[in-house]
Amino acid sequence: MIRALHRWPGLLALALLTVLALSGAVLSVFPAAERLSAPQAAAEMSVAALAKRVQAAYPGVEQIRRAPSGRITAYWFDQGAPGAAVIDPATGQGVASADPNQTQRWLTNLHRSLFLGDGGRIATAVGAAAMLVLSLSGTALVARRVGGWRRWFAPLRGPFPGRLHVELARVAVFGLLLSSATALWMTASTFELIPDAGAAPVVSTTVSGRTGVTFADMPALRDAKMAELRELSFPYPGDATDVFTLKTERGTGTFDQGTGALLGWTDLTAWEYVSETVYMLHTGHGAAALGLVLGLMALGVPAMGATGVLVWLRGRRGRPRISANQPAGRAGTILLVGSEGGSTWGFAATLHAALTEAGHSVHAAPMSGFAPDRYARAQRIIVLASTYGDGDAPASAKGFLERLETLERAPGIPLAVLGFGDRSFPAFCAFAKAVVAAAGAKAWPEFLPLDTIDRQSPQDFARWGRTLGEKLRIELELSHQPVLPATETLTLISRRDFGAEVQAPTAILRFAPPPVTLWQRLTGTGFARFSAGDLIGVLPEGSAVPRLYSLASSRRDGFVEIVVKKHPGGLCSGQLSGLKPGDSVMAFLGRNPGFHPGRGHAPLILIGAGTGIGPLAGFVRGNAGRRPIHLFFGMRDPRSDFFYGEDLPGWQAAGRLSRLVTTVSRGARPHYVQDALRAEAADIARLVRDGARIMVCGGRDMAAGVADALAEILAPVGLTPAALKAEGRYVEDVY
Ligand SMILES: Cc1cc2nc3c(=O)[nH]c(=O)nc-3n(C[C@H](O)[C@H](O)[C@H](O)COP(=O)(O)O)c2cc1C
Repeated sequence: MIRALHRWPGLLALALLTVLALSGAVLSVFPAAERLSAPQAAAEMSVAALAKRVQAAYPGVEQIRRAPSGRITAYWFDQGAPGAAVIDPATGQGVASADPNQTQRWLTNLHRSLFLGDGGRIATAVGAAAMLVLSLSGTALVARRVGGWRRWFAPLRGPFPGRLHVELARVAVFGLLLSSATALWMTASTFELIPDAGAAPVVSTTVSGRTGVTFADMPALRDAKMAELRELSFPYPGDATDVFTLKTERGTGTFDQGTGALLGWTDLTAWEYVSETVYMLHTGHGAAALGLVLGLMALGVPAMGATGVLVWLRGRRGRPRISANQPAGRAGTILLVGSEGGSTWGFAATLHAALTEAGHSVHAAPMSGFAPDRYARAQRIIVLASTYGDGDAPASAKGFLERLETLERAPGIPLAVLGFGDRSFPAFCAFAKAVVAAAGAKAWPEFLPLDTIDRQSPQDFARWGRTLGEKLRIELELSHQPVLPATETLTLISRRDFGAEVQAPTAILRFAPPPVTLWQRLTGTGFARFSAGDLIGVLPEGSAVPRLYSLASSRRDGFVEIVVKKHPGGLCSGQLSGLKPGDSVMAFLGRNPGFHPGRGHAPLILIGAGTGIGPLAGFVRGNAGRRPIHLFFGMRDPRSDFFYGEDLPGWQAAGRLSRLVTTVSRGARPHYVQDALRAEAADIARLVRDGARIMVCGGRDMAAGVADALAEILAPVGLTPAALKAEGRYVEDVY
């Protein structure tokens, strides 16, 4: 619901909000420029002194105005012709033209009414209302994504457009809330929906009918300081019944031009006061620095618009259309989907269609939209949840566990959880398991016990479907063909072969990146952007199931590189190992945001064995900023499987690699990376204590051995692998 409130006003008002935000950002510069360029009055100067100087310079002066920036403008009549100038208060003389800047006037008209009069004012007010709704719903979404208000500035993970969108939002939202709320107030004031028009002062004493009082004899003008002046109007020359009118930040008064006596006074009303404050907060007139800050925040709007559209498009792409989706309040079955890459939505669509065909009414929604009070007729809730990172919730399930935690009681509607994961990850289906554990803790009744789907297996899914069918007493055949991302052709440029002598034939394969379309470039899809540590899914001939390989290169390198070990009988590794330059394979790019070195200069401790060196070598090659990198690499025999052995010395000489420690497991004294870590325990502990990040890549046994060794090494400095993992300072890519 909150997401819909965010998405639709955003998409519909995108162009209008971009115009308003950009014009507002440029306009925010003018008050500051005016403040710097206008001659300012001395703090102790009185209004009487200014009036005297101006009248001496311009005997026909009619009015003196002071803007919140301190700029003083005088208006006069000279032999029947009107004149105006910006005044230097020190001399009373004009120093610059009083005509408003043409650009500023044009931009103000655009910003206020799009040059369309009242209709335009209403349109911009609708834009402001959309901005307010977006800011409020965005605030709630940010809080949900980061895990609560107190974690407002917590580090973010996930794909770049979404991260940038939230990074900008969590800073800019304060300014956008203020700007949109004040804009609505100002429109209401323009259309007189707010009683903030100033009343004329009541004249309580009659005018003396004389003229000629000097400013020095007018106590009110003598006492009024320049800082509080808004406007001083002079009596019409020759009309003895006319009066002086003084407007200050406290109110408006009239004065006799013969005696200088106060004739009447009206205080500023609370409405006027609020309206003036709102005007100041919106325009920066009188608060130039704040204006500039708000202007900067407004600049975030086009960037948030663009990243918001990308996030929306990505979400749509990954998500198949679910036809005949029933409203939450009418459905008998609620399907909640936790997905990051979108494939689980495909399974949800298959299940939705099969249940609907069997006569059930089904409502499918993301897990983050979990709203038990709306499920009025539901008899069961089915959760389909994938797992990401190191057992984390996928994007569309963010906030689910937190929402469940806040419920006093779990819903009485029985729950079935189906986990989607990959057994090669140590935390297999850990998020689905966390959901089941949290449900158990709340005594949520069970509809079906937890089941899991490994690597999107259609067979696993069909088997679970039969169990569900038995429970529902219907025949349920779930035949799901996973929708794979579109594949592209990768052509081999070169290969380097290793490992034959140690019975582990391995090749570093270098492919030419496929051409990138303009659309892919704009949306960051396909091979438009990739970094070492991302994955490529290779579709072997004769199988619809892709095999994932970690990338050892980035887009900047100009090639796609992977390290492939040939497994006995392995279909994909066999085909890859047989490639000759010029041959090609079909592959797609999969992001792996959890396994990137990230920005910053904190040292990296890279640990890998065998083909696990691939992404780590990519990090080293891309380390143009010469961040300290310590690489621990385990091999069998340096004569046979020292992958990147030719490149590492050069990278070391170029400062891209600070230290290389290799271990050899074949021979008289087998030595593993964990042994090397133990040998350097003090150094490792110091590096980690001072902020180093650990990245491990390779087989599962090696990763487990490394984790044990690090647990011992870090204990003396009060750190544990688990704590570092929670902070995102210890990441693994394990297979
Ligand atoms: C970067 C990355 C991390 C993953 N981490 C895990 C994990 O820790 N445990 C697990 O069981 N599966 C993990 N998986 C596998 C996914 O959960 C699995 O492929 C799932 O079917 C994806 O569903 P989705 O496309 O709907 O997000 C990971 C996949 C990727 C790409």
